[in-house]
Amino acid sequence: MKKIIKNGTIVTATDIYTADVLIEDEKVQSIGQNISDIYAEVIDASGYYVMPGGIDPHTHMDMPFGGTVTTDDFETGSIAAAHGGTTTFIDFCLTEKGKSLKSALEKWHAKSADKAVIDYGFHLQIVEANEDVLREMPRVIEEEGVTSFKVFMAYKDVLQADDETLFQTLVTAREHGGLVMVHAENGDVINYLTNKALEEGNTDPIYHALTRPPELEGEATGRAAKLTALADSQLYVVHVTCQEAVEQIAEARNKGFRVYGETCPQYLVLDQTYLERPGFEGAKFVWSPPLRHSSNQEILWNALKSGQLQTIGSDHCSFNFKGQKELGKDDFSKIPNGGPFVEDRFSVLFSEGVKKGRISLNKFIDLTSTQAAKLFGLFPQKGTIAPGSDADIVLFDPNAERTISVDTHHMNVDYSALEGMRIIGEPVTVLSRGDYVIKDKQFVGKPGNGKYLKCNKFNHNSLQENEKEDDLVH
Ligand code: URP
Ligand code: ZN
Ligand code: ZN
Repeated sequence: MKKIIKNGTIVTATDIYTADVLIEDEKVQSIGQNISDIYAEVIDASGYYVMPGGIDPHTHMDMPFGGTVTTDDFETGSIAAAHGGTTTFIDFCLTEKGKSLKSALEKWHAKSADKAVIDYGFHLQIVEANEDVLREMPRVIEEEGVTSFKVFMAYKDVLQADDETLFQTLVTAREHGGLVMVHAENGDVINYLTNKALEEGNTDPIYHALTRPPELEGEATGRAAKLTALADSQLYVVHVTCQEAVEQIAEARNKGFRVYGETCPQYLVLDQTYLERPGFEGAKFVWSPPLRHSSNQEILWNALKSGQLQTIGSDHCSFNFKGQKELGKDDFSKIPNGGPFVEDRFSVLFSEGVKKGRISLNKFIDLTSTQAAKLFGLFPQKGTIAPGSDADIVLFDPNAERTISVDTHHMNVDYSALEGMRIIGEPVTVLSRGDYVIKDKQFVGKPGNGKYLKCNKFNHNSLQENEKEDDLVH
């Protein structure tokens, strides 16, 4: 059925204005004043922002990791994402040495088909760039619509790849229109520091942070950026946490290299002291890279504002405290790495960013939706409200006040890392390709309605327009 959204304030990465939005056949058909259609349902958006649905470029649903499996699958995770104003997510498909990329993608399709309530795509891990893998990459780009490839520079003996693999992935990506993503930490040195800490009897969660110092994130980020420059390729650094890494990205970008960066809400609002919480509570805050000294928060906000970092991912990787985080009770290195953030990414950035005057409303949309669509080949189908775009739309109440809590969240996990945080702003109604997923804060969607998205090739030209300083604070 057709829908008309009336009386709301439309916000995109570039504009803020009042108009009606006509939705038909999953798409935005037109935007204008006083649109009427007797066959359309009218949605009154008085007092709400009408925003493009969020795009979360970094999730780990139903993923085996750390000797266990993340608690949110494509159904529970996507329902929570939708409650939080996200209408698209891109999940990391893990691969195995010696097995084809195709088999890994088949596994991820089996996990997600008939489950997701919003649209989703995949990034694909490259753990070893052997001849078969390098031959398969172009086919995956052309036929499967997977155009982003993730190389882990950490998690030695588990996910970590060597520099030869990183470099060959960069070269192949450049030749065929892919974007290489890195988890940038020096895994070899972390391995040494972790073993040393454990030998010395230091087993508490805080040693997770102390054995992964920011210098090792800065070093790996700089190494990846330099290899990218040498390969004349393109790089996206996931979950940037600290000054040392921001400086490396800024340096590469200032030299004109195609290097992009993401940070996550957790690094903007939490700090390393959370890992010191007594009674093993610190384990709730164990993920990688670790939380940093609070002085880094201002640096990350400035990097978002200045355009040195382009996106906000959730790095949603949920493990229960009971039974999962507890695996590391006597050894911090056995605590499964990850935290639950898919539901809060959008609203935390609005509350802490826009409401506190750190970023403009346009920048907020750019960071939470538009830039991810552009980087990962989904724009303008996703990431904006424009005629012809998918009608992925959030009606957002900018004045609703609430407290984040495990008691009210929708993620399938037994704690919230943001428990008790007061925030302003809340998604009220969420449409995915014109259908209600959330209506008046209630889930009304259907598992399986979310479609797999084939991403287009990386296109640097689509990004340049937004690479400028944000100076418009509302
Ligand atoms: O600790 C984290 N971030 N877990 C998920 C895997 C990754 O490194 O992104
Ligand atoms: Zn990572
Ligand atoms: Zn991650």
